[in-house]
Amino acid sequence: MAAGPPPEEIHFSQRPQVEGSIPGQRSRELLEKQSEIEANTVAYPRSLPIAMDAARGATIRDADGNVYLDFFGGIGVANVGHSNPYVLSAAQDQLDSLAHTIDFPTEARIEFLEALDGIAPGSLPGNSRIAFGGPTGTNAIEASIKLARYNTGNEGLIGFDRGYHGGTAGALSLSGWSSYKSDYEPLLSGVVHVPYPTARGQERGPAASLERTLTQLRAVLRDDDTPSPAGIWAEPIQGSGGVIVPPEGFLTGLRAIADDHDLLLIVDEIQTGMGRTGEWFGCTRSGITPDAVTVGKAVGGIGLPLSATIYREEFDTWGPSAHAGTFRGHVPAMIAGARAIEYIDSHGLLDRAQDLGSYLRERLAECANACPSLVDVRGRGLLVGAEFEAADGSPLPSVVEAIQDRCLRRGLVVWTAGIEGHVLRLLPPLVLTDEQARVGMDILTEVIEDVTRASTETPDVAGRRS
Ligand SMILES: Cc1ncc(COP(=O)(O)O)c(C=O)c1O
Repeated sequence: MAAGPPPEEIHFSQRPQVEGSIPGQRSRELLEKQSEIEANTVAYPRSLPIAMDAARGATIRDADGNVYLDFFGGIGVANVGHSNPYVLSAAQDQLDSLAHTIDFPTEARIEFLEALDGIAPGSLPGNSRIAFGGPTGTNAIEASIKLARYNTGNEGLIGFDRGYHGGTAGALSLSGWSSYKSDYEPLLSGVVHVPYPTARGQERGPAASLERTLTQLRAVLRDDDTPSPAGIWAEPIQGSGGVIVPPEGFLTGLRAIADDHDLLLIVDEIQTGMGRTGEWFGCTRSGITPDAVTVGKAVGGIGLPLSATIYREEFDTWGPSAHAGTFRGHVPAMIAGARAIEYIDSHGLLDRAQDLGSYLRERLAECANACPSLVDVRGRGLLVGAEFEAADGSPLPSVVEAIQDRCLRRGLVVWTAGIEGHVLRLLPPLVLTDEQARVGMDILTEVIEDVTRASTETPDVAGRRS
């Protein structure tokens, strides 16, 4: 029997329902109150100026009653849909009985551990250990840094240009975005970044791009001036960095290098994991077994905060509280995570993510024929990127901003990516229906055509917010 209601039944509606101007009156009031009290670090409502009231499946209702199609998914969190009833009821039951146990065992905790171990990539199932610290993805990365340093006795860390791993000192050190880091340096020492390979913009093609990365990596490892590395941290697809899909052979190449040099390979699946790419993990198809995998975002089922570091049991050499925290796995989030895995499995959502992702990319590719500034469409499963550039190859963040803004006003929520902000990123829930996918893509492609036409005619139109 299928777990919970079918995906088609869990949304507010199949199409957006937007009336009047955005933001509406109540949204305006709430945005204003927020800006009076909350820190200047608030970011998302600057691009999507609405206050939220409720969300179901792949739909969001704002404080004025407008309903949007959600192609943003809470930045890749809502894989089984907002408030998925099957997942929600288990979390509510757990909240009723017990919410906080630090790391004492409960039925829910064990169920989640077994479910997560069961879907882990490569030969990890049955051979893994799972560590919890704080609830954010960043914290799982911090745990992985400590794990790699502890097991190798080495200090150095290797990351990739444009990689994003989180906002605390260690995770930020690994990230390859200088704009996020420069005000807080020095961060961790001994961190080296190498170029992330990509098929795009490479005159000699993806194989040459991959070879360049692997050659640089080997050179770093030969360099006596670089502190001996403890590990290599890689996203299987760079999400925030611009939905950059590496050439085939990237992870197998990293695996071989990590083996040759006795360092850990840590695959950051915080954005790509839990079915987002149409497989449980972005690295699944490579066939490798990472030494450690970090998960966050969607792992807590319906947006309950949870992250974890899954690693090969031979690295479980550290002792009690080696990675500590008051919230070492929130039990309602754990049962929600277990039910979400069950829901994805039971409703064939991995295959759905592949099919829907292909559809979204096909629609964007068709649109690119009429819009020369839409220069690349890429991604895997329901992690989709569309890159915008001017004729001279310069990035067009203002076009992406204008697309996002106009989509919102028509009832579609989309997000962005890339250091330059010139990539449109789509991360809809895996429960998106065919009808929602079609309606959303009709809106998006019309908006892209309008905005790119306007930006060609009057260059500053694209960037202006109404
Ligand atoms: C690949 C990746 N790693 C780490 C993080 C950090 O996770 P969190 O924001 O939950 O701390 C993110 C967040 O976007 C991410 O995409």
